[in-house]
Amino acid sequence: MSTDHGGPVAVLVGTMGAGKTTVGRLLADALGVTFLDSDHAVEARAGKPVQEIFVDDGEAAFRVLERAAVATALDEHDGVLALGGGAVLDPDTRALLTGHRVVFLRVGLSDAVKRVGLGAGRPLLLGNVRARVKMLLDERTPVYEGVATLTVDTDGRSPQEVAAEVASGLRRLDTLGLDAPSPSGSGYSTTAPGSSGYSTTESEER
Ligand code: S3P
Repeated sequence: MSTDHGGPVAVLVGTMGAGKTTVGRLLADALGVTFLDSDHAVEARAGKPVQEIFVDDGEAAFRVLERAAVATALDEHDGVLALGGGAVLDPDTRALLTGHRVVFLRVGLSDAVKRVGLGAGRPLLLGNVRARVKMLLDERTPVYEGVATLTVDTDGRSPQEVAAEVASGLRRLDTLGLDAPSPSGSGYSTTAPGSSGYSTTESEER
């Protein structure tokens, strides 16, 4: 796996319930690299769980910590990095993702709701979990698509299947030599049918 582009071998983005942490760990194992979750980095800095940061200090304080944790991780972590679902809402964070291999783990409403269950430990889902997940998906899907180098569908698939598809997508990027944005910045995308009928979309790293 190439890390010539510097930083993490892959940065996983997607909404809560996309499977970023589970898939990220499997992917890191498969690639023989370490795994880091930005939520855990924030918790280590704050000395308390994400939920407590939201309750004690508020979402804005969490976002400040998250922005700093993501910036450090993009700089220093060379394994697989999973970002909290809302990290890419920050324009500075989006800018920092330029040139990194960003993998959008796409999930539909029904699978996302199944995976988050009652939303325990996820302050943004308090209340009506299904309605909250739907709102987040509607608002954020275009943002995830905008930063993604590679998009992998996760609906109806096991974390192992998704991790294998991400690994093969990364190998394809290596083969294609997509390590840096093109000077023209024009970008492109291709769609390759997967063995089980889903599609993986690659676009130029930005
Ligand atoms: C959030 C997602 C959570 C965590 C926090 C806020 C969000 O991470 O960062 O609760 O804004 O979507 P996961 O996506 O890993 O659950």
